[in-house]
Amino acid sequence: MRVLVTGSAGFIGSSLVLRLLERGDTVIGIDNHNDYYDPAIKDARLARFIEHPNYSHLRIDLIDRESITDCFSVYKPQRVVNLAAQAGVRYSIENPLAYINSNIVGFANILEGCRHNQVDHLVYASSSSVYGANTSMPFSTHDNVDHPLSLYAASKKSNELMAHTYSHLFGLPTTGLRFFTVYGPWGRPDMALFKFTKAILAGEPIQVFNHGKHRRDFTYIDDIIEGILRVIDRPAFPNNTWIGNAPDPATSSAPWRVYNIGNSNPVELMDYISAIETALGKKAIMQLIPIQDGDVPDTFANIDDLIIEFNYRPAIPVEVGVTRFVNWYRDYYKV
Ligand SMILES: NC(=O)c1ccc[n+]([C@@H]2O[C@H](COP(=O)([O-])OP(=O)(O)OC[C@H]3O[C@@H](n4cnc5c(N)ncnc54)[C@H](O)[C@@H]3O)[C@@H](O)[C@H]2O)c1
Repeated sequence: MRVLVTGSAGFIGSSLVLRLLERGDTVIGIDNHNDYYDPAIKDARLARFIEHPNYSHLRIDLIDRESITDCFSVYKPQRVVNLAAQAGVRYSIENPLAYINSNIVGFANILEGCRHNQVDHLVYASSSSVYGANTSMPFSTHDNVDHPLSLYAASKKSNELMAHTYSHLFGLPTTGLRFFTVYGPWGRPDMALFKFTKAILAGEPIQVFNHGKHRRDFTYIDDIIEGILRVIDRPAFPNNTWIGNAPDPATSSAPWRVYNIGNSNPVELMDYISAIETALGKKAIMQLIPIQDGDVPDTFANIDDLIIEFNYRPAIPVEVGVTRFVNWYRDYYKV
């Protein structure tokens, strides 16, 4: 298989590329190496595979339509996994246009590339944040998600809608995966686990949002990658029982699907912090502060569809995953 992975220097993208290369695929990676967080870690992630004979790296921006068009016509990928995006809920309040550019304009360029080059399957990152103001737990893809609380969430929901039109009009099989708080080695410096580990080791206070009462469906990176691999290999197909007068939001008469991909076992933020303290052998100094604009209090994934259709079984509990992250962090930063 020739697989195009966008965001290949990112946390999830780099982990996926490694697994695709291990199983013998040819991979084309796209990343613009932006400085939303320290680009040095992007270079270090890439260093693990950039010399691999079956890997080609393109340092280009999704919004650069000409370069994206060239990439599709030169490499002719059979499968595309779109992970490049402006991530982060809170940053979308400060810099909304970054989300419009990378997540909306950039995604439109990827859809066009797939449309004009007979791509077999487009898999793309959506997010648990699309559940927005929904409070019915666990979150189900069969519920409507029309009340996003941040522009980040709105951009991810828009991707699902844009993909639907391409599946409907051009028969392009597309699958959206709503990731639930992904964590693990090589993780993102702007996310809680990274920030908390760094601050605790330095003896600095950590800011605990929503007074620690958040519950998050933390999902270990290897479980996410396993799910993506299973999904890539089976292009989305139409639901023949779908009807327009009782429309199922998770499927369609077009070859279009969305799935939750999470651990389906939410953990309180305070328990997550305890797991970090145990792994580090050091207590955190905590500043308890209110919930932040754009954040949702709880996330909890219903993953029944992924279990039934793909035999997906997340395997790593938070204590194990956090310990693996802390061991990686200490080794990487020599602390
Ligand atoms: N990590 C999570 O918990 C989580 C949760 C839900 C959804 N997601 C989504 O999963 C995807 C991957 O997330 P991640 O955690 O690996 O993030 P990441 O920021 O580590 O990776 C994204 C990569 O895309 C690149 N990129 C961003 N905009 C680009 C553009 N316009 N052109 C080319 N490259 C660009 C960045 O340089 C980065 O290396 C994103 O779409 C994100 O929104 C992540």
